[in-house]
Amino acid sequence: MWVTGLLAAAVVLTAPRWLPARVVALRVKVFEKVNGDNVVMFPNADVGPDRFEEVYSHPAANGRSRGAGLSDLFWYWLSPGPEVHQEHLEAGPRYDDVARTTRAFLSGPGDELSEVAARCTGRVFDEVVTRPVTLVRLRDLMMPVWAEYFYELVFGEPCPREARDLIVGHADDVVKALKCTGLRHPARRARLTRYLTRRVAAGGLRQPLPATLSPTEQVHYLQGTFFGTAVVQMSDAMVHVLLALAQHPDVAARLAGDDRYFAHVLDETMRLYPLFGIAHRITTGEIPLDERTTLPAGSVLCFSYPDYHGTGHARPDVFDPDRWAQPGVRRSHHIPFGVAANRPCPAWRLSPIALRAATGEVLRRVTLHSTVTHTRSLPSRGPCVLVRVDEPLPSRRLAALGAYLRVRDRWEDVWRSVVQLVLGTVMVLHANRLRLAGRYFDTHDNHGRPVRQEPPSNQEITE
Ligand code: HEM
Repeated sequence: MWVTGLLAAAVVLTAPRWLPARVVALRVKVFEKVNGDNVVMFPNADVGPDRFEEVYSHPAANGRSRGAGLSDLFWYWLSPGPEVHQEHLEAGPRYDDVARTTRAFLSGPGDELSEVAARCTGRVFDEVVTRPVTLVRLRDLMMPVWAEYFYELVFGEPCPREARDLIVGHADDVVKALKCTGLRHPARRARLTRYLTRRVAAGGLRQPLPATLSPTEQVHYLQGTFFGTAVVQMSDAMVHVLLALAQHPDVAARLAGDDRYFAHVLDETMRLYPLFGIAHRITTGEIPLDERTTLPAGSVLCFSYPDYHGTGHARPDVFDPDRWAQPGVRRSHHIPFGVAANRPCPAWRLSPIALRAATGEVLRRVTLHSTVTHTRSLPSRGPCVLVRVDEPLPSRRLAALGAYLRVRDRWEDVWRSVVQLVLGTVMVLHANRLRLAGRYFDTHDNHGRPVRQEPPSNQEITE
């Protein structure tokens, strides 16, 4: 009897080590089963990392939403208006118009992009970091920064507090649903839509909005691209950089004012913790792989960033920014912003500039300390202790705080992974029932034009 008791105690006590990874694997299986697509994952045994970018860049690997069960899930997570989010639009004039507008908003002189990022970071830190020691979740800390940043980029004026709260509420809801740590709240998202509708009607935007979209679609485009994707991606990127610095104080110490070194730190952070786990495409034509194998049109191709980034580098599991300083370092097996030939990230230039300025501002004010498990998807939101540089903490107090957080964070990982499994399954099933993408393409063509419905049969009319 006592042997069973001992075994049970051992299982429970060691759960933080093994349970979260098992639950993640199970969640992936649930997603695959429910979506039911014929998915091909790259790299794989037949198409290795050496041909990863070739397949990703193939002109026929260019479908985005139409024809994949997976799209119903993404449209569910990224509502409202997923049909006009740039990442979900099919190629064509509407996509070109939207992509041109996004590029225009994201362009600008580097020092202006830096100045706004530093100013927004400073303002939020002045509000939050008021004591010598502050315990934060880095993602919650950074979201208001990027909410203010992109508001200013779009509207050309400082972000009012009401707008900031609505943007953070929306982006937080999106990211929690994506990571399956919370369900989605359409009413919360709709509050931002209403605010943006009023704000857009008042005029004064820095760029004209895409003329091929209706006024409602234009608001959805802004909400999805700048107050969803942009805020979420920049906040997550920032959490990865700051966590890496918290866990590698030697790297943080070298960083002050060294822009070249920052580029290496960012490259290495994005290599180990790419913001995209998997990017998918639906093939719109055949892709021959070798003499015998051809991928048919309509295949769902999934490109795994962590798997690709984990090959072609010496000691790939080690965080080593200096690998990017080696003479003749190869840039292959490293695509933090996607592949140039197939819809890369439009913020590839802005992001490093703004992240560098924001990181500089953080390091001028605080030192960072965290022992949380640093994973790519960051469901923990990055718990971290911030200690003001002008009031350092005695090392004994810091060690005690670290010990408490280590235990708390490990057990939180266990509990959260179970929550993610349950909420993930609920959302996959709900998205399957709503069939947002499938239903849209039942009634619209690739360019958003309503397709003519078959007239009802005589029998239907009489019934
Ligand atoms: C460090 C920050 C960022 C990283 C690492 C990143 C990464 C990526 C990657 C890898 C893709 C391509 C995915 C694919 O092939 O399907 C992508 C696409 C995209 N990103 Fe980013 N991103 C970042 C920030 C941003 C920001 C600030 C915006 C602001 C608008 C943005 C908007 C987009 C859009 C609209 C797409 C879809 C492009 C298209 O399909 O034409 N991203 N991003």
